[in-house]
Amino acid sequence: MDRDRIVRLDRAHVWRPYTSSEDHATRDDFVIVETEGPFLIDADGRRYLDATASWWCASLGYRHPRLVKALTKQAAVMPHVGMGGATHPQAAELAAELVEVAPKGDRALERVFFSDDGSTSVEVALKMAFQGFAQNGETRRTRFLALPGGYHGDTIGAMSLGELDEFAACFEPLLFGKNDAEPVQDPSDWGAVFDGLVGELEARGDTVAAVVVEPILQGAAGMRLYPAEQLQRLRRACDAAGCLLIADEVFTGFGRTGRMWACEHAGVVPDLLCTSKALSGGLLPFAATLATGAVYDRFRGDATRALLHGHTFFGNPLGAAVAREVLAVYREEEILAKAQAKASRVAACFQRLGELPGARRARWLGMMGAVDLGDEGYFGTKGWEVWREAKRRGVSLRPLGDTVYVTPPLNLEDGMLEELLGVVEGSVGAVLAAG
Ligand SMILES: Cc1ncc(COP(=O)(O)O)c(C=O)c1O
Repeated sequence: MDRDRIVRLDRAHVWRPYTSSEDHATRDDFVIVETEGPFLIDADGRRYLDATASWWCASLGYRHPRLVKALTKQAAVMPHVGMGGATHPQAAELAAELVEVAPKGDRALERVFFSDDGSTSVEVALKMAFQGFAQNGETRRTRFLALPGGYHGDTIGAMSLGELDEFAACFEPLLFGKNDAEPVQDPSDWGAVFDGLVGELEARGDTVAAVVVEPILQGAAGMRLYPAEQLQRLRRACDAAGCLLIADEVFTGFGRTGRMWACEHAGVVPDLLCTSKALSGGLLPFAATLATGAVYDRFRGDATRALLHGHTFFGNPLGAAVAREVLAVYREEEILAKAQAKASRVAACFQRLGELPGARRARWLGMMGAVDLGDEGYFGTKGWEVWREAKRRGVSLRPLGDTVYVTPPLNLEDGMLEELLGVVEGSVGAVLAAG
């Protein structure tokens, strides 16, 4: 493998995500040529345990043999077909299987709309909420509320819901308004944040189409956890205001937090649920938005009442076949049950990390552990010092500024999990000790 050639071509022609041209031109990046199980393998043949599962999507590790087999089998039969006026077995079966595993409670998610990535699954949910109300006489419902600090993707609608931070600020004139609640600085503020949301719903809930949340765990915001009771309270307030609750489970879904869906920690069923990332096991882009029958009913009628949305690769058979196999692996290999003991190891490690002098705050839930090493948020540098140290020791981390976290594959073998946590602990310790 000619590493230098790859770097040269990349620097000359690739426009990299979240990377300034200056960084791109000078930073000595990874050249990853292979992935296997929990490992990234670079152009020099070095292996790194991937602590963050490629932006949280490889929940079963890389190249899981059953997923690769499902992919190649489907590719040999029908890699793609347009779903305008047609259907196919993988999409129909997957829709039924997703409905089967969806959160259960006082309402049922029973319809599945497919798309390509997490941002799009959120855009679809917004349009379902908005158009559904608009064409049934509730034209006043034009607003969306969201939690401060949330991240729902980088398309314009998804960005409108998120924090007006360094990433979104320059797009402000293009974004639609949401609530203007203050960002949460510390977890004890959550009560006040939800007071604000619930108060807004009580006062002007008839102008709201939906409230959008990452349930229980906000990922990109810095792995922030909030109490299940607050989500229950929000569910009740949405019902009282007659608006929808949209759960963005793009990150939290598929067992990341210890339950199949983070909503289940609160026993809450949303009206719309967005899923992507682990849905297709990190093999290829795929997403889905699940809706209740009541939401779907707002679109009953002639052609003029159809949801005005669709993508070329809607329900792509490869994505659907892989997602079905992901669900089968979760069922048959008892991924969630077996991850429980692993989650306790993650918890123990981050509890210890939180006690180190210089560490700010540690938290954990399921197969996620996080600790803050400074107060500068996303542009803090402490996390990147740990990243460098851990890389030297054979573990790949991707910090959120001053927040160091792990979100490893749920099926990571115990020995490797110990190794990974040991390196994280050693690297954080070394960086904190150096001051
Ligand atoms: C909660 C949440 N929603 C949406 C997205 C956007 O997903 P994608 O990057 O696939 O568009 C992300 C991505 O990290 C996410 O964490």
